[in-house]
Amino acid sequence: MNPILEVEHFNLSFTQYDRGSRRRQFTAIRDLNLTVRAGEVAAVVGSSGSGKSLLAHAVLGLLPYNAAPSGTIRYAGEELTSERVAALRGREMVLIPQGVSWLDPLMQVGPQLRRGDRSPAARQRSAAALGRYGLGPETETLYPFELSGGMARRVLMACAVQENPRLVVADEPTPGLDPTAAGRMLGHFRELAEGGAGVLFITHDLELALAVAHRVTVFYAGTTVEEVAVDAFSSGQLAHPYTRALWDALPQNGFTPLPGAQPGPGEVLDGCPFAPRCPHCRPECRSGALPPWRETPLGRVRCHAWEGGDAL
Ligand SMILES: Nc1ncnc2c1ncn2[C@@H]1O[C@H](COP(=O)(O)OP(=O)(O)OP(=O)(O)O)[C@@H](O)[C@H]1O
Ligand SMILES: [Mg+2]
Repeated sequence: MNPILEVEHFNLSFTQYDRGSRRRQFTAIRDLNLTVRAGEVAAVVGSSGSGKSLLAHAVLGLLPYNAAPSGTIRYAGEELTSERVAALRGREMVLIPQGVSWLDPLMQVGPQLRRGDRSPAARQRSAAALGRYGLGPETETLYPFELSGGMARRVLMACAVQENPRLVVADEPTPGLDPTAAGRMLGHFRELAEGGAGVLFITHDLELALAVAHRVTVFYAGTTVEEVAVDAFSSGQLAHPYTRALWDALPQNGFTPLPGAQPGPGEVLDGCPFAPRCPHCRPECRSGALPPWRETPLGRVRCHAWEGGDAL
């Protein structure tokens, strides 16, 4: 399948001013790589603060003014310039944002979905999009403050996918949804992929990712450490110690906790950011650039300690 989205060597730093107007620059994303192919659900899994939302906003051209990105983002084989992303956003490429505050608080749901289009076709489309997520026609006259958290999420989803997008970026779309509504949403991601779209499904919940995705990209402290097909989890073919730690932390795998914490924002470490917590850390992991990518049986990994095969 052709890649619909390719993120290569992507870096992101922020400029901030401390008290006393001292200028401070810190790196939030470092040499990040990610591919989403047409026809697949690609999950991004990482803990809070690992840079998932920043990546989503970078792809959609929605970064804040103090962000300085570098690297390449390609959409459908061509570089995604700011002009191009502005033309495609909301049509071919859509974001289901993490925060429900992205809804316009002063506009009723129906007009918000239709974006000023008053035609009968637009009305039909918005009603169908809401209906798909179990929201009746009465929802159309509600303002965002009248929606429950879960309803607001479903409205965001309906807004995003009503125009048959080619790339869907869903940033933690399921919190606040009951299992039926969450299942319906995840099922719809699969349907979109079966229809040829690429879906980037961002979540901190590995179990959810494994339930819906074809491939998983693992984030740690602003970079990607492993990209792997979902089958690798159940067959024990994981190459990065952090990916393995995520798997071992699942209830069915013994709830094994990983000691230590992810480096905080701006705490740029040399070498592999996971080195301080890694049970397989070697001297070369603590200095220089990030480890280079290496092919694994079901994906690729950035780890000096991986020696091929299953076990580390
Ligand atoms: N506008 C900003 N200015 C400065 N730092 C920022 C800004 N936006 C995000 N950050 C920092 O970048 C890091 C990554 O943030 P991001 O929102 O991408 O995390 P996340 O992986 O989506 O986390 P969560 O799972 O909690 O949503 C965080 O440390 C955050 O504090
Ligand atoms: Mg986030």
